[in-house]
Amino acid sequence: METKLAKAGDDILEEAAGILKHGGIAAIPTETVYGLAANAYDVEAVRSVFRAKGRPQDNPLILHICSMEMLYDIAVSVSPLALKLAEEFWPGPLTMIFSRKPHVPAETCGGLDTAAVRMPNNRFTLKLIERCGSPLAAPSANTSGLPSPTSAQHVYEDMNGKIPLIVDDGECRYGVESTVICFVNEDTVRILRPGAVTPEMLREFCHVEIDGGVLEKLAPDAKVLSPGMKYKHYSPKAEVYILKGSTESAERFLRGKNTGKTGFLGFGNENVPESVTVFPYGGTSEEQAENLFSSLREADAAGCREVYVRKPDTSGIGLAVYNRLLRSAGFRILDADGGTDALQ
Ligand code: TXA
Ligand code: MG
Repeated sequence: METKLAKAGDDILEEAAGILKHGGIAAIPTETVYGLAANAYDVEAVRSVFRAKGRPQDNPLILHICSMEMLYDIAVSVSPLALKLAEEFWPGPLTMIFSRKPHVPAETCGGLDTAAVRMPNNRFTLKLIERCGSPLAAPSANTSGLPSPTSAQHVYEDMNGKIPLIVDDGECRYGVESTVICFVNEDTVRILRPGAVTPEMLREFCHVEIDGGVLEKLAPDAKVLSPGMKYKHYSPKAEVYILKGSTESAERFLRGKNTGKTGFLGFGNENVPESVTVFPYGGTSEEQAENLFSSLREADAAGCREVYVRKPDTSGIGLAVYNRLLRSAGFRILDADGGTDALQ
C-alpha cells in the first residue's frame, strides 16, 4: 500500500473523512502525539488499527470526540466532577474513563466494560471527527513498543506501506500522551498515566491519587487498571539508562564512554566529551516532554548503542516525562554519585 503524507487542510479533511467513513484508517495530528485513527464504532476498522500497530488486543483504545453529545453517546453516566473537568480541560490532553454503553464495541475497549474518552485540542482533528459523525478510536501512531510519534515524519518511519494517509500538522505541542484518569468516588480521581494535565492542575478541582504503576515496575501478574501500563513501551533499539546525580558526576561518568556509540540527553549545562553524541532534552520539564521521544528516535537513527538520560524533575509535566523514561529504560537507573557499584 502506498502511504500519502499530506499537510492538514480542507481537501485532506475530505479525503481523510472519506477513508474513515468507509472503514479505513489514517494517522491524524493531536496536541499530544500523532494518533492512528479509525471509526470507534466500526469493529473491522478498529481491528486494522491493532494490526497496523502490532498492538495486543487487550490494550484498549481512547475514543476521541468533538462534542459533549458524543460523550453522552458513549458513557452510561457523567458525574458532576467529570463534567467540571471536561469544562475545564477539554479540548485538551485529559482522558477520562467511563462505564460504556453496550453499543460501544468491546473490541475498541480491549474487552473492558469501560471506555476512555478525550476531546483533542487540534482544529483539523476536531473538524475531522465532526465530519465523520462518530468518535475516532486512536492510539498513538507508532509501532507498538517504540517511542510515540511527535511528528508526521515519525509516523511515516513506522507506518509507511501500512496505512493510506498521514495528515501532517507539524510538531505536537506537548510531546507526551494525554493524562489518563479514572474516578474513584464523587470527589477523587486516580491518575493511571500522567500527562500535560498535571496532578497540581487536577487538585484545584478534586482529590488526586496517583496509581502505583505510574512510577513503579508492575509485577508480571499484577492486576492493572490501565492495561497499557503492563506492556514494554517507548523503547528505541538503543539501551536507555536513567542517569541520576550531580552535573559533575554525570560529566565524570560520560568521560568514561569513548566507543563513539553513546548518546546523551542532558539539561544543557553539562560539559560533554566529544565521543558522546548529545540529543535535545532541556532544562525544563516542558522542553523535556517535547524532546524525549524524538531524541530517542534520533539516537537510533544515529546508531547509538546506549543512551543516558538525566533524571528529570518530577513536578508538573515532569511526572509524565519520568513515567515514560522509566519505561524506555526498563526501570534501569544509574547513580552517578553512588560510586562504581551503581555504574556497572
Ligand atoms: O494523547 C493521547 O492519549 C494519544 C493521542 C493520539 O490522543 N493517544 C494515546 O493512546 O496515547 P494509546 O492507545 O497509545 O494509549 C492509551 C492508554 C493505554 O495505556 C490504555 O491502556 C489506556 O489508555 N486505556 C484506554 N482505554 C482504557 C480503559 N477503558 N481503561 C483503562 N485504561 C484505558
Ligand atoms: Mg501508545
